[in-house]
Amino acid sequence: MQIETFQLERWMTTYELDVDYDITESGIYPLSLRELIELSDDDALLDELLDTRLGYSEARGTHELRAELASTYANSTADNVLITTGAIEANFLLFNTLLTPGDHVVAVHPAYQQLYSVPRGIGCQVDLWRLTPDNGFTFDLNALEDLVRPETRMIVLNTPHNPTGAALTDKQLRRIYEMAEAHDLWLLCDEAYRWLELPGAEALPGPGRNLGERAISTGTFSKPFGLPGLRIGWMIAPEEIVQRCWELRDYISLSPGKLNDRLALHALRNRERIFERNRRIVTQNLETIDLWIDENDRFVSWTRPHGGLLALLAYNLEIPSQSLANRLAEEYSVMLAPGAAFDYEHYLRVGIGQRPDTFEAGLERAAACFRDLEASGVPLRS
Ligand SMILES: Cc1ncc(COP(=O)(O)O)c(C=O)c1O
Repeated sequence: MQIETFQLERWMTTYELDVDYDITESGIYPLSLRELIELSDDDALLDELLDTRLGYSEARGTHELRAELASTYANSTADNVLITTGAIEANFLLFNTLLTPGDHVVAVHPAYQQLYSVPRGIGCQVDLWRLTPDNGFTFDLNALEDLVRPETRMIVLNTPHNPTGAALTDKQLRRIYEMAEAHDLWLLCDEAYRWLELPGAEALPGPGRNLGERAISTGTFSKPFGLPGLRIGWMIAPEEIVQRCWELRDYISLSPGKLNDRLALHALRNRERIFERNRRIVTQNLETIDLWIDENDRFVSWTRPHGGLLALLAYNLEIPSQSLANRLAEEYSVMLAPGAAFDYEHYLRVGIGQRPDTFEAGLERAAACFRDLEASGVPLRS
């Protein structure tokens, strides 16, 4: 497979271990293992973990975890679920199982790069369904309809959306599902940001999987659960597709880590407490950034996210986003990913899930950088 470089991952790994204020991270400030275990008042879990014999785990993920996940979707059982190494593996398996070279695919853009680069790597013809500054980074369904052809094999969605924070409405998702049925194509719904509703925003639609068998959903413990270190994700799909993905996975990662599977189950059972923590963090960070944008509107503006944890900040200094992001990291110890990693110039990606004190300090430092740049002669864009 000839695969394009994953731009954002390469940029993140250059700086993420060195900066003090990572405010571009795509998840919620992670839970510690102690916080996770102490989510329930039941002391038995720690003993259970200590006594676990570390043999291989059930290859598809334990029945308990799959059944508990299936119960959060309509018309699904444990046999519809495959536990994977993050949503990234679920997406990878699905692309490689459902697509063949030459297939036509429509993928949302900008996006988590895997969503269009892997289909391209397989040799598919990929048309991009663009969210642009001109349409206020919203999903334009008429544009999608124009891109879908009789031979289209898959539409790749991501809602809530990385990096813009756009979210499909229930009505829009249903209309896309009707397109999938009419054209007999697969709808791959990357729902890594499921369960991350934002205060004051419209309720998010149910998962794509609930609409019927042409829609496949992928999900993860990385974003809404603050547990990216578990590396546990999943797909939920028709049983035959799960079987085929499982057969491919036999050659890659074989099975999830046993402890991680158990901890994921614990997180899922106690999710309301985690979601409450998420709401506290995000509410505080949204207040901080609203104020910061007001104070710094000379330099920055944004389209407020409708869901998830990410948004694009537009800045109006005459400097390419890659240079600005490098300078922020190297001289101000702040990480804000460059819009260039998503093919959009004069934007930075901000993540609203970080520790509120880190978030506030990082924004202040970013504003200092903007002021310093202006003072050093970098012009404002008109
Ligand atoms: C839209 C989207 N999908 C999938 C992933 C992969 O997540 P993970 O493999 O950690 O579950 C990410 C990670 O940032 C993402 O933003």
